[in-house]
Amino acid sequence: MKTTIVAMRADIGSVGGHLQPSEQVISAVRQVLEENKGRLIDDFDIHFTGDDITVLCTHQGDPQQPDVQEMIWNAFTHGSHVAVEQGLYGAGQDLFEKGISGATKGLGPALAQISFEERANEAFMVFSIDKALPGAFNLPLYLAFADPMHCAGLILSHRMRKGFRFQIMDVVYKAHDRAITLEAPEDQYNLAALLRDEERFAIRAIHSRTTEEQSVAVSTTRLHNVAGIVLGKDDPVAIVRVQDAFPAAGEVLAPFAIAAHVSGFLRGSHHGPLMPVGLNSGVSFFDGPPVVSCAAYCIHNGHLTSAVDPFKHPFWDQIRARAADKAIDIRQQGFFGNAMQPFESLGYGGIVRILNELDERFVVDTPVSS
Ligand code: 13P
Ligand code: MG
Ligand code: MG
Repeated sequence: MKTTIVAMRADIGSVGGHLQPSEQVISAVRQVLEENKGRLIDDFDIHFTGDDITVLCTHQGDPQQPDVQEMIWNAFTHGSHVAVEQGLYGAGQDLFEKGISGATKGLGPALAQISFEERANEAFMVFSIDKALPGAFNLPLYLAFADPMHCAGLILSHRMRKGFRFQIMDVVYKAHDRAITLEAPEDQYNLAALLRDEERFAIRAIHSRTTEEQSVAVSTTRLHNVAGIVLGKDDPVAIVRVQDAFPAAGEVLAPFAIAAHVSGFLRGSHHGPLMPVGLNSGVSFFDGPPVVSCAAYCIHNGHLTSAVDPFKHPFWDQIRARAADKAIDIRQQGFFGNAMQPFESLGYGGIVRILNELDERFVVDTPVSS
């Protein structure tokens, strides 16, 4: 019997701006999940990272049926009503085109889903990112699955020798899902050519070429069949099955020590370092910096162990300090150059308005005839 893990992540309202959800909102979401445990779902977990709540559900029903996704959507809706009652910022922002408190973003929850026959030791991790795009996972996943400098298993384990198959999505293409499949190591340079552009291309899935099993699912897809609305979202979630024919947990975690600069940060319009943080951490400095959390589990017959929190380990304190230094450094140049995103990808239209207003004040020098 196949086990399915569904991870959904949404911003349904937060305290003090885009910082973190309230306890009451999380309890309201949890209540709906509790009611469904042992019925529609076998198990669940819930945590937050920045201002988005990640819900994880497991079940052994038909993975094609949207019932579990719809139930999670309903749980988020229940939570967003509490957010409205509490006057939280952006209440319901990711559920409706116009959030129920009037927030305008409304891009829909992030969804990652993976189905498999459970291995005897089924270890996996759930990564949640706030203040960045799905493409923020490109570099750490490329290094963990395609680069022997970071993933020792590619040369040490016979089970990984054939490499991995990457599905990469063109997230700018609006009409339908547009994706390409590339094989590592043969397509190594092609992978790099696409994955360097986190705004346009994002890894959607990674499969083992030894077992054909899926290791990775990232929330790049639009939410078909959920409440009849087709939408997508930033602040992504990723499920990564680890060990055996897949990279070890440590090989997946290690690339996050780079704290690479990603697109997002304040008003979704800047670049800043991706800081690894413990579960249930909010954001702060300049509405950030962009953060990534990790919840690691084992699952057996659809039932989860409690989560462990690898980024809580003291090793990551040093990385956090480095990420904070990088954030302060880049913020010193304010609006200038790489600190702010280029004109085309800014999350806000203010610059366009300024340029339009200033347009008529430009003067074209007429050449002096000799
Ligand atoms: P979120 O995408 O996390 O809601 O943040 C939006 C924002 O504008 C932060 O400054
Ligand atoms: Mg928000
Ligand atoms: Mg967010």
